[in-house]
Amino acid sequence: MSIHANPQTGLFTLETAHTAYQLWADGQGVVHHLYYGPAVGAADLRGTEYCSDCGFSPQPAGMDTQRTYSLDTLCQEYTGSGVGDYRIGCLRLAGPDGSRLADLRFAGFEVCPGKYSLPGLPAAFAGEEGQCDTLRIRLRDAVSGLEVTLLYGVFAEADVITRAAVITNGGSGAIRLDKAASACLDIPFGAWELIHFHGRHCMERLPERGPLFGAVQTIRSARGASSHQHNPFVILAQPHATETAGECLGAMLVWSGSFKIECEVSQMRSTRLVAGISDDDFSWTLEPGASFTAPEVLFSYSNEGLGQLSRQYHRFVQRHIIRSVWRDRHRPILINNWEATEMDFDAEKILGIARQAAELGVEMFVLDDGWFGSRSDDRSGLGDWEVNEAKLGCTLDELIADVHALGMRFGLWVEPEMVSPDTPLYAAHPDWVLAAPGRAPATGRSQLVLDLGRPEVVDYLYHIFHRLLAEHDIAYVKWDMNRNMTDVYSHALPPERQGEAACRYMLGLYELLGRLTGDFPEVLFEGCSGGGGRFDAGMLYYFPQIWCSDDTDAVHRIKIQYGTSFGYPPAAMGSHVSACPNGQTGRTVPLATRAVVAMAGMFGYELDLRALSAEEKEAVRGQIALYKQLQPLVLDGRLDRLTDAAADRCFTAWQFTAADGSRAAVSVVALDPQANPWPIHIRLRGLEAGALYRDSLTGGVWTGAALCHAGLTLPILRGDYPAVQIMIERTEPL
Ligand code: DGJ
Repeated sequence: MSIHANPQTGLFTLETAHTAYQLWADGQGVVHHLYYGPAVGAADLRGTEYCSDCGFSPQPAGMDTQRTYSLDTLCQEYTGSGVGDYRIGCLRLAGPDGSRLADLRFAGFEVCPGKYSLPGLPAAFAGEEGQCDTLRIRLRDAVSGLEVTLLYGVFAEADVITRAAVITNGGSGAIRLDKAASACLDIPFGAWELIHFHGRHCMERLPERGPLFGAVQTIRSARGASSHQHNPFVILAQPHATETAGECLGAMLVWSGSFKIECEVSQMRSTRLVAGISDDDFSWTLEPGASFTAPEVLFSYSNEGLGQLSRQYHRFVQRHIIRSVWRDRHRPILINNWEATEMDFDAEKILGIARQAAELGVEMFVLDDGWFGSRSDDRSGLGDWEVNEAKLGCTLDELIADVHALGMRFGLWVEPEMVSPDTPLYAAHPDWVLAAPGRAPATGRSQLVLDLGRPEVVDYLYHIFHRLLAEHDIAYVKWDMNRNMTDVYSHALPPERQGEAACRYMLGLYELLGRLTGDFPEVLFEGCSGGGGRFDAGMLYYFPQIWCSDDTDAVHRIKIQYGTSFGYPPAAMGSHVSACPNGQTGRTVPLATRAVVAMAGMFGYELDLRALSAEEKEAVRGQIALYKQLQPLVLDGRLDRLTDAAADRCFTAWQFTAADGSRAAVSVVALDPQANPWPIHIRLRGLEAGALYRDSLTGGVWTGAALCHAGLTLPILRGDYPAVQIMIERTEPL
């Protein structure tokens, strides 16, 4: 058992392979956070707390004489409201008497084997028995009857601790929640830096790092989606922490809607992190007996640097978040027609692209946007999911049969959450969109957002897409979502409950995804939101991969995939070779380099391969053959970011190493070839020190230690963005 509970002392210690987490319910019932860091054996860490008589930090009622005891300075597991802790809090509420107060005190605990689940929400699962234990801590406000159950899932081997909170109205009057965070993590000591991942459409998840200071820093999305602009994942790192050394800890929300992660350095220099759904436009009324479940947060800690922390998340997301049968399977190398045709196609054009792709070894054809209803541009047709046979010139089944005849599987694009105003669906159900009475709603890409908070909308979409998948041989679905929410108002909710609309939308979406992915487990689903606008652990629970970005420019993709890799596994990143000059940037990058970059994720093509020269086609054949060998490393191997791609100017490099250490693949892209150049020298990582390896660059045999410490020097790379891939194979001594 990885949870040690001592009812006498009130101490709870959660142990993972390399870390420990300790909390303490004191005699007053206040639950302190004592420690999260490297394993410390059975230590009782109460003595490490800093208790000071701090001016203007009040004492809880009845504790007037204990001036060193203040909720404002103690590190806590979850905060109440309005009773003396002035830092960022977990709750804001209005009780039956109108008061904003909640004084949460310990009311009991349970420890049990296995992983708790969160009804209606995506959450980590244990998989095999013994991989997780659960601790439940119950807190209660004696006056209002509000109860908060703190949930802890301890994944010992994975070095991950999950947290969530269930808030229940155990009183007799309605309570309105205005903020309901998932977790609070108070770090008692140390100066920490915040690393977060920000960006925009076509440039998602760029890491930004800076010191935390004595004010609140907030990472948030208010868009109704986790968003291109911010990601619900942050890292706190010690100032000197690097890829390979130093302390860092991550917090990743398993939530795909608006969110907030706040950090604050307190007056006593402790650091508080509070994470959860966004409270900006949120309220939720709890009638007596009702509960609200705040989504899960995945915490992980490493004192071996950011690379190790990322690998902990990669493994965890792959093993304990992604449920799809596809997570360990060979993912088909696909061709998608979007960048080649956009919506200007018929079956003949599609089959022309498909024929060439099949001939070169591509395994699946994906028909993107524009196959249904009146959808000839992005202003119309969403919601009218009838196949446009007149446009295609054949039925969908005929097209699928033709693709199958080429030896490829067939995939299809959908955007179920949206409706175009010109469709019969909107005409029939204008109240099914998010829009407030008397106001014309804002559009985004000329479309409106269906109110998935309404069960009848979820049912409707379920039947439409269930039928689509049941009636046609569709092996893959690209589930897109191309605008953010505005006019968040649900016609199904009374005025006083409108603060629930955005959250209910997400719960409806999760329900829909759960039903469809459950009914069609063999279908490979890829998530998408204009590329990576909803790249989060909540979506990965349903979709084993997500289209990483609409920017397919390889030089930009290096940065986007680099930033994404801090929290998310490469196996989750859809990554394609597109045409040059690139459609988004106009830049030209050699085909070989585009392929090297796309091979760092789930590989495919997104161009008309017929337009390539005979030599380039031969190269594509080779890329496909090579990627088939490399994909196991990307799916299940270890990623090392050898350089800082966000800052690299001359070259960038990364390495995948097989889980058993038997082989590795190193990729290097020169960004700015120099005259009279300095050497490009790389040191490998993660190889077995004493084992012998042959490298494909020099043909030499080296020990792992030599490759990791002395490294390899590359030949001079000239031209625009040349790339080198070096294969490292373990070999026996002669
Ligand atoms: C946005 C996606 O990211 C693209 O790949 C493409 O599917 C378009 N939507 C289609 O509308």
